[in-house]
Amino acid sequence: MCGIIARIGEGDAITKLVTGLENLEYRGYDSAGVAVQNGSGISVYKRSGQISELKDAIVGSVPKGNVGIGHTRWSTHGPPTDENAHPHTSETENVAVVHNGIIENYTELKERLESDGHEFTSDTDTEVIPHLFEYYLQDAPSIEDAFRKTIGDLEGSYAVAALVDGVHAIYAARQGSPLILGLDNDEYYLASDVPAFLDHTDRVVYFEDGDIAVLEPNGVTMTDIEGNMVTRDVERIDWDPEDAGKGGYEHYMLKEINTQPNALTNTIEGRVQDGEVTLEDFPEGTFEDVDDVQFVACGTSYHAALYGQQLLNQTGIRAQAFRASEYVDSATGSITENTLVIAVTQSGETADTLGALRGAKERGARTVTVTNVMGSTAAREADDALFIRAGPEIGVAATKTFSSQAVMLSLLSLRLAEDIEAVSAPDDQAELLRELQKLPEYVQTVLDSTAAKRIASRYTGSEAFFFIGRGLNNAVAKEGALKFKEITYEHAEGFASGELKHGPLALVTPDTPVFALFNGDKDRKTLQNAEEAQARGAPIVSVAHADHPAEKISDDFLEIPNTHSMWSGLLANVQLQLVSYYAAKNLGRPIDKPRNLAKSVTVE
Ligand code: F6R
Repeated sequence: MCGIIARIGEGDAITKLVTGLENLEYRGYDSAGVAVQNGSGISVYKRSGQISELKDAIVGSVPKGNVGIGHTRWSTHGPPTDENAHPHTSETENVAVVHNGIIENYTELKERLESDGHEFTSDTDTEVIPHLFEYYLQDAPSIEDAFRKTIGDLEGSYAVAALVDGVHAIYAARQGSPLILGLDNDEYYLASDVPAFLDHTDRVVYFEDGDIAVLEPNGVTMTDIEGNMVTRDVERIDWDPEDAGKGGYEHYMLKEINTQPNALTNTIEGRVQDGEVTLEDFPEGTFEDVDDVQFVACGTSYHAALYGQQLLNQTGIRAQAFRASEYVDSATGSITENTLVIAVTQSGETADTLGALRGAKERGARTVTVTNVMGSTAAREADDALFIRAGPEIGVAATKTFSSQAVMLSLLSLRLAEDIEAVSAPDDQAELLRELQKLPEYVQTVLDSTAAKRIASRYTGSEAFFFIGRGLNNAVAKEGALKFKEITYEHAEGFASGELKHGPLALVTPDTPVFALFNGDKDRKTLQNAEEAQARGAPIVSVAHADHPAEKISDDFLEIPNTHSMWSGLLANVQLQLVSYYAAKNLGRPIDKPRNLAKSVTVE
């Protein structure tokens, strides 16, 4: 949801800005732009379309200057046009600004500025920021003061970086949208996410809400809105720059699907010992007071939360997964101090999930986030954080993080069952933890099979695609359908197997393949539901272990290793990820950047 970058230091900034934007393109790819301070004005280049368009615009007149800002956009106000692309400039073009977030009071600010004679050239909310900054620069005692006044007028969420003509500095502020400072030896970076500058430095400072910074060649000053100095810790990122590249794969998504064995190994490492779950920072008994659990999450993370809900309910712990955007209105009446609210969010920055997390905290719940990003807002705002350690995920469609989230939630649910006296750990816990240790190997077996590619080709062009599963596999069916629709643009739906006959069956025809998922839990019933669809002519693609009864009735078969039902769905999910990937490839879709979507959705 928009990515920003800024850089100040020795040498020209432009190459580092553009590379940074390319590394952030997963956050938005409607349009892109840069502004560079060159000693005789601010050069601004911006284009609708992908970053390659911007690069084409720069070729032949590469802007010189060692301080600059850049932006990649996911439109909120106004369509993706050259005019609406960032950076935006002020009336006299002596201020340039990039912004991620939403300025909620921009209409009032715009009217105020227009009555003062300012003219606007875009449809964006952002454009008020450079105009306001310029307005305050006329009378303020210092540039910092004018910037603080500007920021003080903004309502909403923002990460902002600004240049002022002739001033060798970057002005930045954060409220509700991520902003990270990167510290290299002789240069400083600002970005919405670490991959933007990971090639240059792994030393970072996470801005907190309300922080305002001035970056100059010889240092960074951080204050609050009143101008009082604030200090923030410098932290080290343990991601390798190579983790953020494609590593020889055609798409990030394919790389991320294929690196799941490694991601899962990292998720599990050190968290299972002697047949028990050991979670860092959670000594035995930590959860003994928990009466019930509520999950809040969106999209794929919501499907991982559904997986967690099912597991907890199976162990006898009351649990419910909420779509984060609906949570505050629907669930808060049921919160007590013994409610554990688990915010599941890969990025840790999803606005809907953060809103739900904050709502839960306000009402006295204890909160934990399960996230992939250290230093993210969710990690900082929840009472505790559990990191899934999947490494950076760049493809917009979440893949490895779903698998790692589901495993992390499974471990957490086993841990809750150990702590809460009224319930007991599953009888076969030792066995299922042994199988968990083998999960990376099982995933590799799925990755080595070729059936998904063949099946994707066979059914490409079908009218619609349905996915059915029961229990834990209900969550996987829904995730399979979401992945399929978001990258192929084809109609796909996921249902609880038993629901098909209560309505959706009306959609089933010989041109709608039904993917049926089996994990050893009430499979006989799911088989019957698949046969009901088959009787209406639908081809059945079963996902199950070898020699499963489903194999006999199926038109096509995706085999997975035979394992505990707790993990089987995660293997089925990898098969479905591959089917989606190859179907999207057959259709020539832009797999890593599906239309209209962005990796991290920081607006509600
Ligand atoms: C789908 C996808 C989205 C995200 C959702 C939540 O492939 O990636 O549905 O899962 O936007 O994002 P996080 O997990 O960052 O909160």
